Amino acid sequence: MRTIPLLALASSSAALALPYAAVQDALLAALDWAAPTAPNTLPGFCTVTSNGHDDTQALADISKRCGKNGVITLPSKEYIITKPVTLSLSNGYLSLKGWITYTGDHLPSGTAALTLAGSNLALTSKDGGVRVTGDAVEGYALHVKATNSAVTGFGVDSSGPGILVADVSNTDISGGTITAASGVVVTRASNMAINGITYTGVGDCVSVQAGTANVAVSDTECRGAGVVIDAAGEDVQIRNVAIGGVRVLPLDGAPPASGVRFQSTEDAWGQAANISIGVLEVEGATIPIALDGANSAFSFHHVNVTDVSGTAGGAKVVQLHCSPAAPCHHWRFKHVDVKVEAARENYVCDNVPGLHVHHAAWECLPSQ
Ligand SMILES: *[C@@H]1O[C@H](CO)[C@@H](O)[C@H](O)[C@H]1NC(C)=O
Ligand SMILES: *[C@@H]1O[C@H](CO)[C@@H](O)[C@H](O)[C@H]1NC(C)=O
Repeated sequence: MRTIPLLALASSSAALALPYAAVQDALLAALDWAAPTAPNTLPGFCTVTSNGHDDTQALADISKRCGKNGVITLPSKEYIITKPVTLSLSNGYLSLKGWITYTGDHLPSGTAALTLAGSNLALTSKDGGVRVTGDAVEGYALHVKATNSAVTGFGVDSSGPGILVADVSNTDISGGTITAASGVVVTRASNMAINGITYTGVGDCVSVQAGTANVAVSDTECRGAGVVIDAAGEDVQIRNVAIGGVRVLPLDGAPPASGVRFQSTEDAWGQAANISIGVLEVEGATIPIALDGANSAFSFHHVNVTDVSGTAGGAKVVQLHCSPAAPCHHWRFKHVDVKVEAARENYVCDNVPGLHVHHAAWECLPSQ
């Protein structure tokens, strides 16, 4: 059996017990072209170098040429695309050395310059990712829409939103550096790990939205804004979310609004349950742990917040404005020890019945 770098990558990036074995098996099957029983699974080798002015067509053609069992190499420092491109792949390996730069027309909200779609994929960017030029960009730089896949090292450089992770399962996204209006939005996703991301910008660093289950966010640095569990709309279900090893830092001296924020819109209903926040470090966050849901019927319940350290910009450390219509039940705080700049720290918990606060010298009381 041949050894290709993918195999090392796929096994080393298994931070969670995700089915990389499936990826490996698929690739091994694809690469084992000596096997006479599998004549139709020969891998396609596609190496595309940039023509220096417009690579849209060449990249779009990859799905046709190497969409199945493809080993795709993009060795150039930069590729220019003038239209959004979707790579639809299965059982594929893609290695991008540098940047894919979108220089086309205004990207409308909800679209993405590059979409990586498919299953059983190992997609790696070495020193780049996706860049979108221009101001007031509304579309995402990158949309990941994959199952049983590992997406590693894809950075973003854009004035618009960063990465949309939507319609995804059993996938690990790791190690990208994102400079954008927002970091990673996760929706309609299950069995996902986001690990080792560095975000710089003033929008949400990681936003966990409707239709997510079994999502872990770890080892992530957020410079400028924190992580949010964000419920908007009807019948929103979010469950089993673990956020751990996250540092939230100021950007150019401007404090992040929060470390972790829970929020629901007025029209939202549904629930976010089984959320655990652990090892969160904040620097100067205005309200390190915040919940904004007083006017909504959305319920945040079974939430553990453990090991929170650092400094708050003002007096407030915890401020939970839960809804009387959907109280926050089964909340626990343990080892939440954040220094405040004000003379007296402030912990507010509205509509949080049965709250447990462990190993802390404070109580969380309803607003006066
Ligand atoms: C909450 O998490 C526990 C353990 O991880 C799991 O057994 C339980 O089913 C989860 N509850 C929900 C509502 O997902
Ligand atoms: C929260 O902590 C309690 C007590 O340690 C534990 O039983 C429960 O499973 C935890 N829940 C989550 C969502 O981590």
